[in-house]
Amino acid sequence: MARTWWKEAVIYQIYPRSFMDGNGDGIGDLRGIIEKLDYLQLLGVDVLWLSPVFESPNDDNGYDISDYRAIMKEFGGMADFDEMLEGIHARGMKLVMDLVVNHSSDEHSWFQESRSSTDNPYRDYYFWEPEPPNNWKSFFGGNAWEYDAPSGEYYLHLFSKKQPDLNWENQKVREEVYSLMRFWLDKGVDGFRMDVIPFISKRLDWPDMDPHDFSSAIEQIYANGPRLHEFLQEMNRKVSSHYDVMTVGEAPGVPPKWANLYVGEDREELNMIFHFGHMMLDWGPGGKFDPQSWGLKEFKEVFNTWHKAVGQKGWISIFLDNHDFPRLVSRWGNDREYRVESAKLLATLLLTMRGTPSIYQGTEIGMTNVAFDRLDDYRDLETINEYREAKERGDDLDALLKVVHRVGRDNVRTPLQWDDSPNAGFTAASEPWIKVNPNYREINVKAALADPDSVFFYYQQLLRFRKENLALVYGDYEPIDEGSDWLYAYRRWSKEGEFYIYLNFSSKEQTNIPFPTGIRTRLFISNYEPDASFKDTLRPWEARVYRVAAP
Ligand code: NOJ
Repeated sequence: MARTWWKEAVIYQIYPRSFMDGNGDGIGDLRGIIEKLDYLQLLGVDVLWLSPVFESPNDDNGYDISDYRAIMKEFGGMADFDEMLEGIHARGMKLVMDLVVNHSSDEHSWFQESRSSTDNPYRDYYFWEPEPPNNWKSFFGGNAWEYDAPSGEYYLHLFSKKQPDLNWENQKVREEVYSLMRFWLDKGVDGFRMDVIPFISKRLDWPDMDPHDFSSAIEQIYANGPRLHEFLQEMNRKVSSHYDVMTVGEAPGVPPKWANLYVGEDREELNMIFHFGHMMLDWGPGGKFDPQSWGLKEFKEVFNTWHKAVGQKGWISIFLDNHDFPRLVSRWGNDREYRVESAKLLATLLLTMRGTPSIYQGTEIGMTNVAFDRLDDYRDLETINEYREAKERGDDLDALLKVVHRVGRDNVRTPLQWDDSPNAGFTAASEPWIKVNPNYREINVKAALADPDSVFFYYQQLLRFRKENLALVYGDYEPIDEGSDWLYAYRRWSKEGEFYIYLNFSSKEQTNIPFPTGIRTRLFISNYEPDASFKDTLRPWEARVYRVAAP
């Protein structure tokens, strides 16, 4: 496989609202990011992906854009952006922006024009119908068609009412998107993460969805529409291929069998996608607020299947949490007795898999989920809408609050915990836009930097090792002992080296590990001190990476 910077890079995702407040108004901003660039360089990541920083009324924290060429006032201005970009490049890092073009904000001038009359030239920038043509549901609750009084028709919004879907059938819409992409690329940004990109081509016969199976509807009804690949190829031909950039598509609803239609090297569409196989493992038929249990076997199966599906022809990005899902250590690990051990084990998985890893802010210090006991402390519209609907249905609201503690998006949106001063050193304001996680006194960057055994330094070490060992980037992958429901073990190898990775996904000591026999190995990295008495045993959440010694 050809060597490329974006395959060897590790991404760090910043959720700007919660990263660092530079001007003391309680909201994270670009000056805050500038202040912390040295910290990110110290960690050793290569690419910063910023969740949207564009002008927005913030119905969905910036995923509703009202001006694609302006910086959100709360975050700063273009001068701050330019300084930030220069600071990132000066430290040898790159910047990837969030491209949210399945929909805009309803406050974007295009939609303002579009809704003003049925014969406005912007009318078909969006989807308008005299009656809802199907039973589609919005991701954030309620119907996906909203009646709009001024022109007496319904418009489509797969997300909130304030996020009308753009009509990609219209060549003018596509040219607008390409032009705004060029605007940022010409400024020097290094690529885009593309929000729900598989949704941009709609099924215009407007089929009904199965209201009892939201997950299948995502794949069969919302994503993978008839003109999708034509649009992605056009975007690549007209824009991306003219720059040396990283393009990563957020890809809910894309099954492994279609992966290489998006990322196959011969396709000229996207460099890679974030797939959702593992992220939706615990979704029940009713979606994320209807969680079900998951098992390690199924979890491993997702990675094995995706590896096979992409093979040597395409590339994916690996992530275990982001701004939409619970904290990695709370979801896949044990955030109580084994928080540090399991956070390090998950880091080992993330950074030894094949694909470009993406680390979400705060994960590098082992931040955990939060459990607010009042709905008033939640800010995410998804949670607030779900709560309102549950109340209308007469559901048990205490039970729902427990589900929110488990799956809600605000778990990952509390401010990054910088130190143990009030509000975790995130802001000088008395109140941040969302409360900090009360565990900030114990879990924070300052404490992590003072402790050589911290999760932070483990990430730093792994990031360095990955860079020095291309087998961990490009090498093949083969699972070991697929049937185990506590052990995740695999081999990575190429002509540059060979590694065996053992991860004990349990809070118990485990014996009978299928360690390799007959070859000489050396322990390369582990989250426990080496101890000869545990030679054949894995301690709770122990992770070990062995390197095969040269013959
Ligand atoms: C996916 C984004 O990651 C999420 O945060 C957002 O709410 C939806 N797309 C809508 O843009």
